[in-house]
Amino acid sequence: MAKEKAREQWGSKIGFILAAAGSAIGLGNIWKFPYVTGQYGGAAFILVYLICIAIIGLPVLMGEVLIGRTTHKNPVGAFAKLTKSKFWMGIGGMGVVAGFIILSYYTVVAGWALGYVYEAIAGNFYSFSAPSSAGAHFNNLIGNPFWIVGYFALFMLLTMGIVFSGVRNGIEKGSKIMMPILFLLLIILVLRGVTLEGAAKGIKYFLHPDWSRISAESVLIAMGQAFFTLSLGMGAMLTYGSYMSEKDSIPGSALSIVTLDTLIALMAGLAIFTGVFAYNLKPDAGPGLIFHTLPVVFTRMPGGYIFSILFFILLSLAALTSTISLLEVIIAYFVDEKNWERKKAVLVFGGITFLLGIPSALSFNVMSGVKFFGFNFFDFVDFTAANILLPIGGFFISVFIAYYWGFKNALPELRKGAERLFEKYPVVITFWKIFIKYFAPVLIFFVFLNSVGLLKIIRELF
Ligand code: PFF
Repeated sequence: MAKEKAREQWGSKIGFILAAAGSAIGLGNIWKFPYVTGQYGGAAFILVYLICIAIIGLPVLMGEVLIGRTTHKNPVGAFAKLTKSKFWMGIGGMGVVAGFIILSYYTVVAGWALGYVYEAIAGNFYSFSAPSSAGAHFNNLIGNPFWIVGYFALFMLLTMGIVFSGVRNGIEKGSKIMMPILFLLLIILVLRGVTLEGAAKGIKYFLHPDWSRISAESVLIAMGQAFFTLSLGMGAMLTYGSYMSEKDSIPGSALSIVTLDTLIALMAGLAIFTGVFAYNLKPDAGPGLIFHTLPVVFTRMPGGYIFSILFFILLSLAALTSTISLLEVIIAYFVDEKNWERKKAVLVFGGITFLLGIPSALSFNVMSGVKFFGFNFFDFVDFTAANILLPIGGFFISVFIAYYWGFKNALPELRKGAERLFEKYPVVITFWKIFIKYFAPVLIFFVFLNSVGLLKIIRELF
């Protein structure tokens, strides 16, 4: 049923790398990474996170892209093509469902970023002497259902507009424009941060590990963050890999994506913590770090007006290159498997995701009293997707490659486009096999088992 000939491909290798890095780099890097680092011990947490990225993130990313490129299909179609097994197709289907769920609440937060671009331009950052008053302003905004649903709708429309135009003309072109702007903005913000008087304290916080802060809990948080930040476990990277050419190297591209994602997270942390420490604010504000603490930094910082605008534009762009990848997972499924027109699929499923996201948006106001297993709706879907569906997806992707599809079939595919690399460094294959076969499934299983324990932590966070 699939229309293989009509299927789109990336125009270039760099187009794929920028689009996939765009998916990876998002709210997870600029909003979440700095605040979890602030809560779980600064440099010590960063080291654990980097280890997780290297031994789980990179190998699983290579695996997801590999399944996509081998089959040139969406997550369900990919498993169907390789196995004909209903079970594995179900795993792919879970990815599509996770895409729906994550897109629905992620875009709500992305809408806040967009709303804050306006707040910054309107100069609403100039009356805050303390995080508590900035926090009150923020709570006021998200407490207004029209504000929150309005910006959510606007962000959803932007996402749909890009995916509507297709893989090459929409996602690739958009990423090629947005990603360089994002890098440039972040470089400007890091330079501003490190040249502030008192920035050294923030840099020190980043470089000096306090090992006493490392616990089983922070290791689990670091692993979950590694997954989320690399868009793993739900077929986003599989879908992007499905538009990749056999001529391009998967290990090389995956390494570039992971390096860019990590670099951006570290730079975002540096830009934020230099400001936070320069003005003697606290790094452990949690999810409110950006919306409660940062506005105070901008109020006090020379040139804060302009830097606040740049920061929230950066956050919005980062979120947009991620939301398009989430929507694309859903669209690829309906285009490949159900033969839908792309444009029609975007309109229908963009609309459905918007409806699905409304209870998340209302969790901060009219529905704040409605609880699901002790969570409000937003926290409930966030927890289910990020801490349950993604680790299960990642676990099965590594198990699938190592124990079901088998390295006998996987390696010849991985070799395509990477012949020279494997000739020169055959050890890359050895490492990948060990990580996919043992490290990734065992460690992910561990994360998953402990997700239940994470309930408590998440409740404390929000
Ligand atoms: N990687 C994105 C971030 O760090 O913000 C979040 C994300 C995007 C997760 C796409 C999953 C996904 F499929």
